[in-house]
Amino acid sequence: MITLKSSREIDLMRQAGKITAAARALAGAMVAPGVTTREIDRAVARYIRSQGAVPSFLHYNGYPASVCISVNDEVIHGIPGSRVIKEGDIVSVDVGAFKDGFHGDCAGTYPCGEVSEEARRLIEVTRQSFFEGIRYAREGCRLPDLSGAIQRYVEANGFSVVREFVGHGIGRKMHEDPEVPNYVEPKAGRPRFLRGMTIAVEPMVNAGGVGVYTMPDGWTVRTADGRLSAHYENTILITDGEPELLTDPDAKAE
Ligand code: MF3
Ligand code: CO
Repeated sequence: MITLKSSREIDLMRQAGKITAAARALAGAMVAPGVTTREIDRAVARYIRSQGAVPSFLHYNGYPASVCISVNDEVIHGIPGSRVIKEGDIVSVDVGAFKDGFHGDCAGTYPCGEVSEEARRLIEVTRQSFFEGIRYAREGCRLPDLSGAIQRYVEANGFSVVREFVGHGIGRKMHEDPEVPNYVEPKAGRPRFLRGMTIAVEPMVNAGGVGVYTMPDGWTVRTADGRLSAHYENTILITDGEPELLTDPDAKAE
């Protein structure tokens, strides 16, 4: 069942989203040679709690950290730890914050120093695919319009869209209906967008093939071919016009 949020609920989602977006900015600003993924996780968790919120991911289905940090060929759900980020890496950070009953969820991929031309292009195509998709995130359009726009843009640029993981409705729960695939998936149906829906749109894009697998840690998802992967996500509100981005892409680290 897809829930519609009231204006009071939307206000609470704006607040959760604001904290989540600032947390992403903080994580992105920390990406530098010599920094461990654990240091980013700690700082982000501290920031989220300082805002009176709770990290959404901590203990979610047993997830052991507050942030997902996925480096290079890691697609999503990388567990922060002793890994040291180095020049040339690309680092995907995914953060969620829960406040006053509502979640925000967003992600982005950040280059560490100088990265390859392919890496730069992958990051930019992944980000832009989100904006191509949300041109259809408005009342009257249908879910497959959004999914197809993301897929077309990614594939036209020679990259591939991950199939096993998808975006989602979001609100009182981090994962609500509908599922929001980044490719045309007939099984996802053709729900029509209505004002008051809140969804997390999150293309995961591989430089090489679509194949991915989960590591023995039970979480970290990597590309099967070992090539790079990038991620970009915002929580958005459907309106009768442009969608409202509840996790501001231009938020500043506080
Ligand atoms: N941000 C992820 C999503 O959009 C959730 C992370 S999974 C967790 O679905 F276990 F780390 F929480
Ligand atoms: Co999400």
